[in-house]
Amino acid sequence: MRILGIESSCDETGVAIYDGERGLVAEQLYSQIDLHADYGGVVPELASRDHVRKLLPLIEQCLRDARLTQHDLTAIAYTAGPGLQGALLVGAALASSLAYGLGIPALPIHHLEAHLLVALLVDPKPSYPFLTLLVSGGHTLLAEATGLGEYTIIGQSLDDAVGESFDKVAKLLGLAYPGGPAIAKLAEQGRPGRITLPRPMRHHASYDFSFSGLKTAVLTQVKAQGDLSEQDKADIAHAFQDAAIDCLLFKAQRALGDLGYQQLVVAGGVSANRLLRQRLAHIDADVFFPPLEYCGDNGAMIAYAGYLHYQAQSADHRYDLNIHARARWPLTEL
Ligand code: KG4
Ligand code: ZN
Repeated sequence: MRILGIESSCDETGVAIYDGERGLVAEQLYSQIDLHADYGGVVPELASRDHVRKLLPLIEQCLRDARLTQHDLTAIAYTAGPGLQGALLVGAALASSLAYGLGIPALPIHHLEAHLLVALLVDPKPSYPFLTLLVSGGHTLLAEATGLGEYTIIGQSLDDAVGESFDKVAKLLGLAYPGGPAIAKLAEQGRPGRITLPRPMRHHASYDFSFSGLKTAVLTQVKAQGDLSEQDKADIAHAFQDAAIDCLLFKAQRALGDLGYQQLVVAGGVSANRLLRQRLAHIDADVFFPPLEYCGDNGAMIAYAGYLHYQAQSADHRYDLNIHARARWPLTEL
């Protein structure tokens, strides 16, 4: 069984082929970061147009790398949402028409579920049920995973996603997009304890998060300090990262204890954060992460999620000409 995976929900064009016997046999990832850099964030129309340019050449390259032809494919998995509608439509239309032409199924994949499932690509794997903390540029949520496609959300951000808050704070400090890696790097030079920032919602009884107040607290610091030296910026980055990671950790740990879970799977772009990984290494639970190279958006996670669903016959196998793209798609509606 060979599944072609296509990711085009935001600013990364990802393509990969997962072989049921050999694992990942080819992968290509093209990042549009340079295209959007001058704008300080992703410009949806530019993203869609670039996916149009890049997808076919990347698919052809993957097939060549794996020494396969399109007729060797069993199914084509694609990100059907959530994400930027135009960008999703490019991948969905290409995947659906290619699959239709080849007479094979097209599998619409939920982007967040793919982030989570790629943590199961490597050993040791968690076993169901487990708790999951999904932290990306668009989402921050805690959910119970009871099986493939079976999720119950127990907490989520009421405003900004944690990755989005890293990006916004980076912008305030004049750092490049995407802000997460830039903040994490600068924070290494920051002096602990020089600045203290709040931990919003920490004492709230729910498992929900809030990050916009933390960003506003950073803005207040930036304004109060006037002209910022490089050291000031590093101190702020350090304080922000410390507070943001604390918020995630605190709720995840409480949920694990309250609900009696021993396994936590952390996934999404922010799961690449070193401080988050270090702090989670000390909690009283088995914590699983995707390999670092698969934390951000990529085609491998879509191919692998497609493989798992195809194998379990749980994805909505499509032979029709409908193109499935949902900018908003709750994880609980799988
Ligand atoms: O999952 P992802 O690649 O795309 C979405 O589905 O949103 O996540 C991207 C987010 C961005 O906000 C980026 O700043 C953040 O993940 N990110 C990080 C790190 N690497 C990426 N945040 C904190 N620390 C990092 N090392
Ligand atoms: Zn993502």
